[in-house]
Amino acid sequence: AESVAAAATDLPSLKAAIESFDGCDLKKLCNKTVVYAGTIGAPVMVLGEGPGGNEDQIGLPFVGKAGQLLDKMLTAIGLDRKANTFISNVNYWRPPGNRNPDKDELAVCRPFVNRMVALAQPKVIIAAGGVAAKSLLDTTTGIMRLRGSERPFTTPAGTEVPMFPMFHPAYLLRRSQDKSRAWRDLLLVQERLREMGVEV
Ligand code: URA
Repeated sequence: AESVAAAATDLPSLKAAIESFDGCDLKKLCNKTVVYAGTIGAPVMVLGEGPGGNEDQIGLPFVGKAGQLLDKMLTAIGLDRKANTFISNVNYWRPPGNRNPDKDELAVCRPFVNRMVALAQPKVIIAAGGVAAKSLLDTTTGIMRLRGSERPFTTPAGTEVPMFPMFHPAYLLRRSQDKSRAWRDLLLVQERLREMGVEV
């Protein structure tokens, strides 16, 4: 994955490389490789956990119920996947029964994730949910403690991108009492974008 990712010179070629990559066993068990959606060159990148049932059918990230809530959350701070937001995941293949991707599966994808950040050069990353946040930050600390503040994501090249861990929209669909905390996290993103002079 490392060398295949390094050879990709732009996001469409990285997408094609991930789609033809056979190094993750999950690929044999699912329908589609789900790479990214949204706007290339966008200031904001959302990284989720990985495709669910709807995404696996359609081949695009965040298209089910959680995706609809994600879109609403983004809209609240002026973000839109059609205009200024790029959306992907830390794993590209739906695990059987929608279980979480395990450590090895995430590790296989990681060079692609790193390369995607390097090529997309987002100003800010939103890590949607504990699986994405823990994996990106290489920590066992849970989302309850990770959310609520900026946690820089460091690329292998040493560049730091401001990152904001947030509750996963699928979690918020189950626990609407936590929506106010998600709202506070969205405002942190908005504030940070303003601070950097990014118009959205
Ligand atoms: N949940 C995720 O984390 N990612 C998707 O693409 C869809 C649902």
